[in-house]
Amino acid sequence: MQNQMFSYRGFMLDSVRHFMKPADVRKLIAAARLCGMNVMHWHLTDDQGWRVEIRKYPRLTEIGSVRGRTFFGGVSGTENNSGYYTREDIREIVSFAAENGMEIIPEIELPGHASALLAAYPEAGCRRESELPDAGPWTYAVEVSGGIFPNLICAGKESTLRFMEDILDEVTELFPSRMVHIGGDEALKLHWRRCPDCQKRMREAGLRSEEELQRDLVLRIGAYLAAKGKETIVWNDVLNGGMLPDYFIVQQWMDGEDKIRRFMENGGRVICSETKAYYFDYPYGRIDVRKIWQYPRIPEWAAGYESRLLGIECPLWTERVTNLERAGFLLFPRLAAAGLKAHPGPLSWEDFRESVRETCRQIRDLGLTCAPEEWWDMPADRAEADIRADEDRIYAPEALPYEQKQHRWTVLDREEGRRIREGETKASVLREGDQTLAEICR
Ligand code: ACM
Ligand code: ZN
Repeated sequence: MQNQMFSYRGFMLDSVRHFMKPADVRKLIAAARLCGMNVMHWHLTDDQGWRVEIRKYPRLTEIGSVRGRTFFGGVSGTENNSGYYTREDIREIVSFAAENGMEIIPEIELPGHASALLAAYPEAGCRRESELPDAGPWTYAVEVSGGIFPNLICAGKESTLRFMEDILDEVTELFPSRMVHIGGDEALKLHWRRCPDCQKRMREAGLRSEEELQRDLVLRIGAYLAAKGKETIVWNDVLNGGMLPDYFIVQQWMDGEDKIRRFMENGGRVICSETKAYYFDYPYGRIDVRKIWQYPRIPEWAAGYESRLLGIECPLWTERVTNLERAGFLLFPRLAAAGLKAHPGPLSWEDFRESVRETCRQIRDLGLTCAPEEWWDMPADRAEADIRADEDRIYAPEALPYEQKQHRWTVLDREEGRRIREGETKASVLREGDQTLAEICR
């Protein structure tokens, strides 16, 4: 693809952390098209909500789409916390997108980022084995802060597999896309280590770690989707459990470049969502238009395997994006800049900026916000101030108790994994870990 336009030119909309009404989603799709995009990856499920109607499991939206006051740092509040897309909404949006030359790829996240699903159907979660006298079953809620939670769907129960397959049956009926995204990032293994069903699956399938169990689950779901003629996309974290067959597509975002490279060597296809260049929830101080212009079109880890780099995708995570205006400011014109990267020819900074300027005019005509030019090429002092302001928004005092809790179980997960890998017995590691978990969750 060194000398060809990328076939995959995407942006990702997180409709979980803040909900956006269908008319606004359509506006973003129209604007993304002006930026040269041809895919919207739609992040519809996460810890903080479930946004897609599933007829067979109505509690997913009855319970999972409703959230009260939320603590996402400096934007803690009550704006656009609840809502979901009906089947009709989705049909209309998919059809509008198709008329505009855009494909919509739905993401149903598993096994982690599953708190909203589990709040609705706790039986899809793990059983808990613990020696602590007062350790009851895991409890779940639609989460009201950002971050990483230990709540995973159970990878050992056949009933959970059927449940996910039923959901994917309805999702694939609604979305005609060639690909379905099943997530796979940031899945802490605290529950799986303590679950008799997950541990049984590991013994029976000869799996040596919970990372391999995640790969095993992904292979089973991927095979189910393949039988329906769908290709499966996963975040690159899934490669921590071993290599995937080349009918998977890996979305790179952070770390694990060596594994991604090996996946490409084995014929695997990859989408680049490098956080340093294409994460548009990051402030302009970190990623301005000039930085996108400068970023290598073919990242180092893909060198030599250009034909397997499908393209790029720019995620908009919305913890701190409560409405369309803010979404527009963060996406545009950076998405126009990313669209230009999809073309092989190098452009001078002046030509690049002029092209972005022209697209900006068209986007503003749609009634959307675009960041003004002083944000496109920021001097170092302004960039630093913008980064600091963003950090103040993330680490605002109201969200701090949630941050601390999450930090503790993330560290615990890493420590348990390390100690078990280094040869300590699982039982003794988990016994200690249970004490810590009891403290964290007190
Ligand atoms: C991710 O940003 N957690 C994929
Ligand atoms: Zn389990």
